[in-house]
Amino acid sequence: MNMKELGESVGVNVPKSYQIIGDVILIKLLESAHRKRLEELSKKIMNALPRIKTVCFVRGVEGELRTPKIIASFGDGTETVHREHGILYKLDVARVMFSKGNLNERKRIISQVRNGEKVVDMFTGIGYFSLGVAKGNPSSTIYAIEKNPESCKYLIENIRINKLNNIIPVCDDNRNVRIENADRIIMGYFPHTERFIPYAKMMVKNGGVIHFHNSYKESELWDVPLKDASGFGKIEVLNKKIVKSIAPRTYHVVLDVRVWTQ
Ligand SMILES: C[S@@+](CC[C@H](N)C(=O)[O-])C[C@H]1O[C@@H](n2cnc3c(N)ncnc32)[C@H](O)[C@@H]1O
Repeated sequence: MNMKELGESVGVNVPKSYQIIGDVILIKLLESAHRKRLEELSKKIMNALPRIKTVCFVRGVEGELRTPKIIASFGDGTETVHREHGILYKLDVARVMFSKGNLNERKRIISQVRNGEKVVDMFTGIGYFSLGVAKGNPSSTIYAIEKNPESCKYLIENIRINKLNNIIPVCDDNRNVRIENADRIIMGYFPHTERFIPYAKMMVKNGGVIHFHNSYKESELWDVPLKDASGFGKIEVLNKKIVKSIAPRTYHVVLDVRVWTQ
């Protein structure tokens, strides 16, 4: 379905692409539009896609807690269950973000975890990384830290509906949490993730691996990310790559580093 053309037919400016999360469709509004026109567009969408129960018009995500900015929604509520690779993610798309765009990065990190590892997910959200890691590695233990109470509520629910018993949810700011000797730390957040390096450093074991996500300008690659990562201590860079473009000449990147604390 070409969303741009459908939007134009009722005078609403939207991009071609859209996201379907569970049975809710999220459409980015490129400019403000009258509520009546949005309602008209959502009726057309629901006619074309009968499995969609709600249409949400959004303007991206806001602030440290990544709260979606919903402009209007039409249909039967914004709570849904999204299924991806056999994992169920329950969430309210109007209250917490779902980063569907990071699917390949999720698969990449999940495949690196070895059974028996102690893993800390410092920015868990509703469990984007943690649920997959736990499911793929039943004898590993995942400490899933999330400070947004709304996301943490869904994280706990998602652990339950996926019948997982190896995730310990920690509903707090990761700077208050004291966990030691982690084999692996996932820092799935940006921008300015470098502010959290001292806290990750306290949690990682000697020789442990950290997946350090952050955002950088093209001109900063790779000197600045490598300089930031040296804040972990003595490091061996296992991998560095661009995850996606997030603005003109600005990228979401990840560095996998082995950290020697002694
Ligand atoms: C981008 S989302 C994470 C999603 C997931 N890690 C991923 O990459 O798909 C970032 C999450 O980090 C949480 N967060 C931000 N600062 C935090 C902190 N200091 N301690 C714990 N959680 C934090 C936010 O509430 C949000 O749910």
